[in-house]
Amino acid sequence: MKLYSDYRVLPSLRLVDMPPYAFGQLDELKMEVAAEGKELIDLSLGSPDRPTHPTVLKALYDGMQKLRNQQYPIFSGLPAFKERICEWFSARFGVTLDPATHVLPLIGSKEGIGHLAFAYIQEGDITITPSPYYPVHMRATTLSGGQVYELPLKPENQYVGDLDAIPEDVLIRAKIMILSYPHNPTGASVNKAYLKKAVDLCKRYNIILLNDLAYSEIWFDEHKSSSILEVEGAMDVAIEFHTFSKTYNMAGMRLGFACGNPEIIHTLYKLKTNLDYGVCMGIQEAGIAALNLGDDYREEIRLEYQKRRDYLVPRLRNIGFKPMNPKGAMYVWVPINVTSLEFATKLLKETGVSVVPGVTFGANGEGHIRIAMVQDVPALERACDGIEAFCKSHPLALQV
Ligand SMILES: Cc1ncc(COP(=O)(O)O)c(C=O)c1O
Repeated sequence: MKLYSDYRVLPSLRLVDMPPYAFGQLDELKMEVAAEGKELIDLSLGSPDRPTHPTVLKALYDGMQKLRNQQYPIFSGLPAFKERICEWFSARFGVTLDPATHVLPLIGSKEGIGHLAFAYIQEGDITITPSPYYPVHMRATTLSGGQVYELPLKPENQYVGDLDAIPEDVLIRAKIMILSYPHNPTGASVNKAYLKKAVDLCKRYNIILLNDLAYSEIWFDEHKSSSILEVEGAMDVAIEFHTFSKTYNMAGMRLGFACGNPEIIHTLYKLKTNLDYGVCMGIQEAGIAALNLGDDYREEIRLEYQKRRDYLVPRLRNIGFKPMNPKGAMYVWVPINVTSLEFATKLLKETGVSVVPGVTFGANGEGHIRIAMVQDVPALERACDGIEAFCKSHPLALQV
């Protein structure tokens, strides 16, 4: 007699082989901590703690009253939203974009980055990605049947990938090269000369340059971030991804956009028409309201993260850790002396402070934890008190 299990349909091997999305790994433990009545200070996910601005929420509400917005969206995006993106882009980066051909709204930038790999990667093609990596930078290529070349980010290079170290046979087989600075998880940043070098390399080897600029507006000190499209010739090879999740505290609404080379944008659009219906138009109207919040709003958000960094990094150094001072993004990348899952699990159990084990960002992330600055300074102070007490009872955890 055949058993039920004999009829089980297995998922594709690519999916079976994929390790679980590790951000969820500590979820149960977090619930236990909360159930014990302990304060949970969650510095794990890069999900901003502040509320979406009321003007943006009102635009969403008003937008959804319109019958047209209750129906399927326009596949290629709301023209008014795309026009507003182009205005902002020109003011911020000095780059002129054509709303009809250079811009595509996305259901969050993660969606677009994932779909770009599905649109281009065939069996055996290579994507080059800085490593440790934001997981979709590896996972989308692997799920598409491609291979990932991990360009290691080392502390001696301030966690910036050495483009000269990529072997020529990898460049020849590569279809996509990912850049993503300000960088998650390391907080590294690059200058325009680096971007220019990457563009030249991609042009020479006919590679798509995917610039994930999720943290374009969260930069610190003098490290103001640039768009890849500011570089001469970038429009020939580059597509850049932006998100409303971080600066505008809109992670729950799922809104982002891609911009750049019209052919690559069109290919991504073509793939998406096969799989989704584009972005809810009420949310795109909320996106217009977000961009209209203006430079003062964006500066306030940026300075809040900088204030958090300016508390957190010296305090961690005082405890005995040796993190790099991040130049942008929302994270502090902390070297530790034990395995990262063990550190994160014990820290959460014993203190209620939740951080992400570095191995979540690939093997090159092992030996680190990532602390997301998604709580205000008083909460960070309490978290550091917990971390300090933890290090006193586990002195080996500290990197010496
Ligand atoms: C580098 C990077 N890219 C993209 C994303 C995803 O952003 P979105 O919310 O637009 O999907 C994140 C989220 O943490 C990120 O860190």
